[in-house]
Amino acid sequence: MTMKELSLHVLDIVQNSISAGASLIEIKICEDIKNDLMIIEIKDNGRGMDEHTLEKVKDPFFTTRTTRKVGLGIPLFEQAAKCCGGQLDIYSRIGVGTSIRASFIRSHIDRPPLGSMADTMVLLVAANPELDFIYRHRVDDREFVLDTREIKRTLQDVPVSNPMVLDWIKTFVEDNLEQINGGA
Ligand SMILES: Nc1ncnc2c1ncn2[C@@H]1O[C@H](COP(=O)(O)OP(=O)(O)O)[C@@H](O)[C@H]1O
Ligand SMILES: [Mg+2]
Repeated sequence: MTMKELSLHVLDIVQNSISAGASLIEIKICEDIKNDLMIIEIKDNGRGMDEHTLEKVKDPFFTTRTTRKVGLGIPLFEQAAKCCGGQLDIYSRIGVGTSIRASFIRSHIDRPPLGSMADTMVLLVAANPELDFIYRHRVDDREFVLDTREIKRTLQDVPVSNPMVLDWIKTFVEDNLEQINGGA
């Protein structure tokens, strides 16, 4: 079982952060072309995991949810990384938060495409306007940042879920991705 795009894993892993009560979620993507590496990190300030959960979390038959017996989000992300010569690491502390980091050999033939991070961010902001997201993306030494805290400060009374704001976010991410990838 594999997901066609890495952004779908991002969406799924961020869902865990939301379920853990996070108010700030940081998505960091680093592409190092020279070293042929791609790293995706999702960090939150949610409730964190105790040692027992942390030990079990890579096991596909473990979940603390009661609606479904099998927790697959993390095992699937780990499988995707391992298939591409990478690995998945989890750092978590109760009451502090969780960080999930997956690495991939960037040019690996099995590495799924990233997919649309513009659509992913729009979806996340539209569905969770009360939460804050930071999306950082670096390709070699070029980087851009989308920070909903800054957007909210600028908007003042306009909700971040306003369609015009979501449109702006989509274009902002698309344009910046094009630029850091060496486009015009
Ligand atoms: N960011 C997080 N903060 C706190 N707990 C987490 C986080 N991510 C995962 N977990 C814990 O790990 C379990 C397994 O996660 P996952 O593999 O995505 O499966 P599922 O979400 O279906 O339970 C979750 O049920 C939760 O207890
Ligand atoms: Mg999950």
